[in-house]
Amino acid sequence: MTPDAMPQERVFTVDAVPLKYGHGALAELGGDAAALGVRRVALFTDRHVAATEHAATAHAALKGAGLDVALYDQVRVEPNEASFREAGAFARAGRFDGFVSLGGGSVIDTCKVANLLATHGDDLLAYVNAPLGGGMAPPGPLKPHLACPTTCGTGSEMTATAVFDLTSANVKTGIAHRFLKPTRAVVDPTTTYTLPVGVVCSTGLDVLTHAIESWTARPFTARDRPADPVTRPPYQGANPWSDIGALKAIELGGAFLERAYADPADHEARDGLMFAATLAGMAFGNAGVHIPHAMSYAVAGLNHSFIAAGYTDEPPMVPHGISVVVNAPAALRFTASACPKRHLRAAEALGADVAGQGPEVGGKVLADRLAEIMRNTGCPNGLGDLGYTEADVPALVRGAWTQKRLLVQAPHAPSEADLADLFRAALRAW
Ligand SMILES: NC(=O)c1ccc[n+]([C@@H]2O[C@H](COP(=O)([O-])OP(=O)(O)OC[C@H]3O[C@@H](n4cnc5c(N)ncnc54)[C@H](O)[C@@H]3O)[C@@H](O)[C@H]2O)c1
Ligand SMILES: [Fe+2]
Repeated sequence: MTPDAMPQERVFTVDAVPLKYGHGALAELGGDAAALGVRRVALFTDRHVAATEHAATAHAALKGAGLDVALYDQVRVEPNEASFREAGAFARAGRFDGFVSLGGGSVIDTCKVANLLATHGDDLLAYVNAPLGGGMAPPGPLKPHLACPTTCGTGSEMTATAVFDLTSANVKTGIAHRFLKPTRAVVDPTTTYTLPVGVVCSTGLDVLTHAIESWTARPFTARDRPADPVTRPPYQGANPWSDIGALKAIELGGAFLERAYADPADHEARDGLMFAATLAGMAFGNAGVHIPHAMSYAVAGLNHSFIAAGYTDEPPMVPHGISVVVNAPAALRFTASACPKRHLRAAEALGADVAGQGPEVGGKVLADRLAEIMRNTGCPNGLGDLGYTEADVPALVRGAWTQKRLLVQAPHAPSEADLADLFRAALRAW
């Protein structure tokens, strides 16, 4: 068969967000915004970040470049439908020609959606992923958005996704379209120095799952070639480019996360985690994540009573990184048979001793090392520590089963019965 007649995909694309990275990058934000033609800018943040020196730095940089700046510091941490709508109303009323987000994934995602709703009208649920929403594509590009992350976590500055809690359905979901990708990312690792250590750990564990899930996602060649290249999905599956960032991010997380927990003043560890977050964001923004994230949307959507370390000043909820990583050891044991060598290689990158170990134990070695990092960084011991029991499994499965977009990215797609087994296995991580 000639290559042209082959039915499987042979092409991948790299639509990476242009990046400025390093100590002091935030102070250069004004010039970056002005270069995009922005004159009247909305600066999105949350009330904690608003009180840090980073907000003052960003504000001064934008003013210094002659921009008219309006501050929105009402972003809800772990946003929901109502908070997205409020942010959208602010954005629409202000008639801005550009947006800056300064904060974690909650702020960056809120800014993406506010930009969408201001530019194209407030029809939030129409854009939300099917089956929960209408799955409609935004009708056109959005206004310029410069994303400045301040957690070593989501990598949202690199992705085409915005996630929120659809409280009416008791599950998290989101909007995914390439128009949501920020125009530029400005990543200054020094912003992480004010993060509570509990937030460093939950966001750092999120990074590890982004990287491991991208690395173990089904290969891009497992999809059929699209009839029309325009319909190629933004999350393409593991490919040679996403593999580079994913594996390096696993290495950095394995080296620095336990250090960051042990010593909150270890700036080298936080710097390393921020770079890992950026690399993992590039990788999963390109390859996609799978089972642990699909499960997490049910875990977070059904629990509004947990209070995590570092989040005592927020409404009770399961922080995103924790809601994902508690599922990961069980999910990786399940996916290992589809690509055992990759699981073993990830374990090695994460710092496991793999001497004398073969691919057949790759899933176990990887899951054990990840559970060890969780234990060493104050993470809850599985879903049981979040208050879940066997009786919650059917509801958890219902929530995760709606995340088809993510489940198809797994190297070995689970059935509903498999998901039930995975939730039961995730009740305890060690
Ligand atoms: N869009 C994506 O691709 C994507 C990917 C993963 C997760 N998410 C979403 O991102 C959200 C989570 O974002 P996150 O984990 O980055 O954290 P976050 O934005 O929820 O912030 C966590 C906490 O840290 C505080 N904080 C943030 N930066 C700080 C700083 N520099 N100093 C002091 N305090 C600071 C916040 O006020 C908050 O209390 C969730 O809603 C999740 O679903 C999005
Ligand atoms: Fe995540």
